[in-house]
Amino acid sequence: VSAVAAVSAVAPTTVPVALGARAYDIVIGAGAARDFAPLRALRPGLRRLFLVADETVARLHGGAVAAAAAAAGFAVERVVVPPGERSKSFARLEALAEDLLARRLERADVLVALGGGVVGDLAGFAAAVLLRGLDFVQVPTTLLAQVDSAVGGKTAINARAGKNLVGAFHQPILVLADTELVDTLPLAERRGGYAEIAKYGLIDRPDFFAWLEGGAGRAVVERAGPERQRAVVESCRAKAAIVAADERESGARALLNLGHTFAHAIEAEAGYDGAVGHGQAVALGCAMAFDLSARLGLAPATDAARVAAHVAAIGLPTALADLPLAGGAWSAARLIDHMGRDKKVADGKLTFILARGVGRAFVARDVPAAPVIETLRRFGAA
Ligand SMILES: NC(=O)c1ccc[n+]([C@@H]2O[C@H](COP(=O)([O-])OP(=O)(O)OC[C@H]3O[C@@H](n4cnc5c(N)ncnc54)[C@H](O)[C@@H]3O)[C@@H](O)[C@H]2O)c1
Ligand SMILES: [Zn+2]
Repeated sequence: VSAVAAVSAVAPTTVPVALGARAYDIVIGAGAARDFAPLRALRPGLRRLFLVADETVARLHGGAVAAAAAAAGFAVERVVVPPGERSKSFARLEALAEDLLARRLERADVLVALGGGVVGDLAGFAAAVLLRGLDFVQVPTTLLAQVDSAVGGKTAINARAGKNLVGAFHQPILVLADTELVDTLPLAERRGGYAEIAKYGLIDRPDFFAWLEGGAGRAVVERAGPERQRAVVESCRAKAAIVAADERESGARALLNLGHTFAHAIEAEAGYDGAVGHGQAVALGCAMAFDLSARLGLAPATDAARVAAHVAAIGLPTALADLPLAGGAWSAARLIDHMGRDKKVADGKLTFILARGVGRAFVARDVPAAPVIETLRRFGAA
């Protein structure tokens, strides 16, 4: 008990997501997934939970989380899916749906998504459509899921034509973000999730970015501690504010795509097979977005240099050559071509999230290709 008390010395923080009838809390801190009292308080009469996890997370954390839910008086049924992006498929959704229905899933039951963005998106979408909509709880276990995918209510599976093309907006009723669970995540995955954290600072929280830059960022990646908790809290506040202003992505929510026009092009070129991590591409994409902003005379060159330096300090890629590309060199023309196919293209002009400096991002709708190509070359594209 004393060891547990020691790591849990900092009490969890609750971040509210203000969405009217769909409002919910995010409970953030070491041990947050060992305490299901907040769910008991929300649903006093609730009897049964379905705990969905991938094999890896089920093995590492499934037992402890199921035990915690049982301790709060819930009957827990466990469901395990294979790990990896391929589980966001029609086939896996069908298998999950049939499994849950065969176990006599009822409208009053709650689905709990224990895992990274893959399980959150799959189980969240299942919750959106099964029995025309069930309540669900997110228990994110990756840094990316804690600061991004578990918050905001976007759920989806992939289609042949592209990622996340079949989905629904379905908000969770509660998020339990246990910062300790992230300690078992491989370092590259922790760094990748961190890129989304730094992104919030770059969008509109310059003080937060300065704090990360000053050394807290490394601590966030390295271990569960007060820095990680504060970073997840700040990130969830940032995303909650943007989501509350624009739940269904018609305006402000686009700012969350900082670094992502570049990142999606990089991922499309690399082939989405996981060789290039999303966060790795986003980190490089943020450095590129600031380079482009400076090149267009919008942001000071010193701010672009700060972003690149911080990306490097965290061990994230700072050049295209740092990312594996099967069979060849990165080509600016091919990357631009992918941007043309991205959904953020209006009337053939490229839309980017650019910045007037650290913490001053905005949507730029008609960026010409020439400076974009210069930026890509600056980062090593041919
Ligand atoms: N819904 C949204 O708003 C949103 C936002 C961003 C990303 N996404 C989606 O999120 C997905 C990526 O999420 P992700 O990066 O969390 O990937 P993921 O869920 O695949 O998790 C990454 C890997 O880490 C393992 N893992 C998870 N937690 C672990 C832990 N605590 N310890 C050890 N291993 C652990 C998983 O088994 C998996 O192999 C993508 O499909 C993306 O489209 C959704
Ligand atoms: Zn992202």
